[in-house]
Amino acid sequence: MIGRLTHIAIAVSSLDAAIDMYRKALGAAVSEPAVLPEHGVRMAFVEAPNTRIELIEPVGEGSPIARFLAAHPGGAIHHLCFAVKDIHAARGQLEKAGARILGDGKPKTGARGKPVLFLHPKDFAGALIELEEA
Ligand code: CO
Repeated sequence: MIGRLTHIAIAVSSLDAAIDMYRKALGAAVSEPAVLPEHGVRMAFVEAPNTRIELIEPVGEGSPIARFLAAHPGGAIHHLCFAVKDIHAARGQLEKAGARILGDGKPKTGARGKPVLFLHPKDFAGALIELEEA
């Protein structure tokens, strides 16, 4: 069911500092920052030849990223995102397999305007998995 790795997300306490470092030290192309209120983050994509890095900074009260950063103050890998062809078919297959979907189980709109779901890290060896319809 899973397709290509679309991005790896890294939670950071300062998005601007992280963008600066990825641009200067790695010579990476980085998108302009965007705020995603529904996800409680401000983010930017670092372009790599075979995938993207999603740099995410907490925004607003109760951002789930703020809690994650409190446990990992220096920043840390937060999630992996895989493409799926049909997010509703994917959800059905996951539920049948006993995997837990986070939140209310309904797809939200992700950073690229496509529907996304997040899967419980306890079901996937400790890694938070995002699925994006693409
Ligand atoms: Co993501």
